[in-house]
This record gives sequence, C-alpha cells and structure tokens, in this order.
Amino acid sequence: MPFHIYAANQAPASQSVQAQVGKRTADAAEQKQRVLVTQARLTQNIAQIVPGALLTSEWPGRPVWILHRTERMIAQLRADDARLADPRSRQDQQPAYARNATRSLRPAFLVATGICTHLGCVPVYRPDVAPADLGGDWNGGFYCPCHGSRFDLAGRVFKNVPAPSNLDIPPHEYLADTRLRIDADRDHPA
Ligand code: FES
Repeated sequence: MPFHIYAANQAPASQSVQAQVGKRTADAAEQKQRVLVTQARLTQNIAQIVPGALLTSEWPGRPVWILHRTERMIAQLRADDARLADPRSRQDQQPAYARNATRSLRPAFLVATGICTHLGCVPVYRPDVAPADLGGDWNGGFYCPCHGSRFDLAGRVFKNVPAPSNLDIPPHEYLADTRLRIDADRDHPA
C-alpha cells in the first residue's frame, strides 16, 4: 500500500481541500464580522435637527431617535416625575452616563431606541401639548398606539400603562458638537 511521507508543513490533498474550505469559511466569517462591526457603529450629523425636531436613524436594523429638545421640553421633564414609573431611571435601561434627569449626555439631545418596551411596536412622537386624543395632562412625549403606552420626552414610561420600563438608551458619544456616534463598543471597548 503506497504511503506518503509528509513534510511537517505539507498536508495531504484531502487535508488541503479541507484547509481551503476552512479558510473560505473563516474569510466569510471575518467579512460578516466586519459588516456587523460597521453596523454596530453609526455616526450621525445632528446639525440639521432643529429644536423640537426628531430624527429617526437606524442602528443596527432598529430605529434610533435623536430628539433635539427645546428649553420648554427640558423644563417639562421635571414636572412629570410624579406620574412616571421609573423617574430616576433605576432600571438598567441606559448607560451609566445617561442615568440622570434628562437621560442624556447633553440635555438638549435625547438619543433613544424607538421600540416600545411592551411588545416592540414603534411609538409615535407626539410633541403637541394637551391634544384631544391624549388628554389635557399630555405635555409631549411618545405614544405607543398598539396598547396605549406613554413615554415622556426622556423616554421614561408613565405609570399604569402596559410597557414595563423606560425606552432603551443606546451607548453613544459626541465626537464633536454636531457629530454623534452610536457605538455598541462605546461602553465595552475591546
Ligand atoms: S407594544 Fe407598545 S404598548 Fe404594547
């Protein structure tokens, strides 16, 4: 029976094929990982978001809101505390640097994941005050039409609604005054 003596760095043909397949698989995995890394980071120019406006972006595959709050909106955040389920953001729904009165790095900007914490619908931005359909005590916020959950302009959930917790705040930072980066690795660098 013929046999081969392989040099230490020489593999038999079948092993070579396996090695090539393995390499292609590794390349594909590496490429996929690169795509995921790219998707895990979103840089957004926020210069064009005027006070009161909401920009919806995507990160990664989920809506992310960037709301430029007006002075009135910021002041209003304190007024609604007694009606909120978790006004101090004690539940782990945000990075440590967003566990504050405005749930943000900069009071003028809210960065939040636009997915209701009840069953995952996308709430509607309703900045209007006391509209007929939401009642006289509505001071602006986010309303989820699926089952009626309400969130204030910091993404904090009101009491007595189906949603169990505040909206998520994704990891983010400001690279410059008008450049925001949402980055999955922001809080867990490699
Ligand atoms: S999914 Fe928003 S209230 Fe149910």
